[in-house]
Amino acid sequence: MKVLMLNGSPRENGNTAAALAEMKKIFEENGVETEIIQVGNKPIRGCIACGGCAKKGACVFDDLVNETAPKFEACDGLVVASPVYYASANATLVAFLDRLFYSTRFDKRMKVGASVVVARRAGTTATFDELNKFFTISGMPVASSHYWNELHGRAPGEAVRDEEGLQSLRTLARNMVFLMKSIALGREAYGLPEVEPRVFTNFIR
Ligand SMILES: Cc1cc2nc3c(=O)[nH]c(=O)nc-3n(C[C@H](O)[C@H](O)[C@H](O)COP(=O)(O)O)c2cc1C
Repeated sequence: MKVLMLNGSPRENGNTAAALAEMKKIFEENGVETEIIQVGNKPIRGCIACGGCAKKGACVFDDLVNETAPKFEACDGLVVASPVYYASANATLVAFLDRLFYSTRFDKRMKVGASVVVARRAGTTATFDELNKFFTISGMPVASSHYWNELHGRAPGEAVRDEEGLQSLRTLARNMVFLMKSIALGREAYGLPEVEPRVFTNFIR
């Protein structure tokens, strides 16, 4: 069982890293393998809507997105963590996620998703909603905690003083483990749900 964790901060040892480290401890205690990928410090451009991925089966820009794609395909759970920038996710991370989700055609259903947001003060729930939408358009169940998954702090390291935030992240990781194990059992017993051919109805006359 494996969880892939994306760090959307440009700071390798900042507060987002601390949030992921807290969850990683719980995953490891439960025998779940983890890999953390630092996204926010990479020069990642946005999607150019060229449609090349449909032909190539991968993004036309051969960077961390294509490197991450097979790891995403192999994982049972995905944690996407971001610092809050102007009440939104880090722009590099959003560019990365747009391209990763759009260019990969493998079945993402029943991979458990969780987003984590880190901020000094505000914009957390808007960012949380923004990130969860990548999961909820992909058939990925979203793990939750006893509070929204947020951790507060400004300077690197400050967020480890947010004890309530850290506790909610530990709960989140435990809930994620439970969901991943339950889904593995369900997949074994019942298989994945039937898929209908997709209907596309664009909002045009
Ligand atoms: C460009 C920029 C915009 C920011 N915007 C917000 C914001 O809207 N709300 C907030 O509470 N904190 C904001 N912050 C503060 C960061 O979210 C906060 O310092 C966070 O802990 C950084 O996480 P990191 O150490 O993992 O990079 C902003 C920081 C930067 C650099």
